[in-house]
Amino acid sequence: MHETLFFICGGILAASAVLVSVFGLKNDNFPGKAMPAVIVWFAIFAVATGTFAVLHGKDESKEHDAEYSKASEELHKADTSGPFEEAELEAAEAESGESEGEPGAEESSEAEAENEESGEEANAELEGEGGEQLEGEAGATAAGGNPELGAVVFSENCSTCHGATGHGGNGGPDLTTMPLAQSEEGAIQQVTNGGGGMPPFGGTLSEEEIENVAAYVAQEITHGE
Ligand code: HEC
Repeated sequence: MHETLFFICGGILAASAVLVSVFGLKNDNFPGKAMPAVIVWFAIFAVATGTFAVLHGKDESKEHDAEYSKASEELHKADTSGPFEEAELEAAEAESGESEGEPGAEESSEAEAENEESGEEANAELEGEGGEQLEGEAGATAAGGNPELGAVVFSENCSTCHGATGHGGNGGPDLTTMPLAQSEEGAIQQVTNGGGGMPPFGGTLSEEEIENVAAYVAQEITHGE
């Protein structure tokens, strides 16, 4: 805006100078009486051109300010949002595009996965049953009783007949030679029900105490299962 006015005023000023000098060269009397008018004319346009030059300078600095703040804003954006967000957006778009693009393929692969899963589940169930049975047997020795606690129960209830170490001597047989002493299950059965001259302990000892002492017999005395 001010730039245009600057050029107009400057143009008029320059044109006036040319006209005045041409006119002056051709007419000896010039400027003569017209001298004040010529001076005012030049003064007006000189001042106007100068003013608009200054105003235009201000305009430009404002524009520069605006441009600078815009640029710094963009820089700031680039810093905070960064290229990663864009990349994420692109990735998300790509994903949605894929799933939309091949619905059939995905469904079928899902179905396959389900089939596989159910198959695996069936296998796992079969294995689980077998495993449970095995564990049930093993659990009687491993997880069933606590042989350390069983040792206490043994010395208080069994050593009177089977001896302190279970090798017999006081009317009870050497347990290392007895078939039911070889496994925890067998020992539990014998201790709970008694038999063959041995009293039953099902009424006097708790289930846990019987399990513990059976574990002690099978693991520490006979070193059975
Ligand atoms: C009153 C004496 C007596 C006491 C107490 C006693 N037993 Fe016996 N126990 C016997 C006799 C007798 C036998 C032999 C039974 C037989 O020949 O069938 C026996 C057998 C056993 C057997 C082997 C059974 C078989 O047929 O293989 C085990 C195991 C056993 N006792 C564990 C224990 C434990 C554990 C205790 C303590 C909780 C205990 N007994 C307490 C007298 C005793």
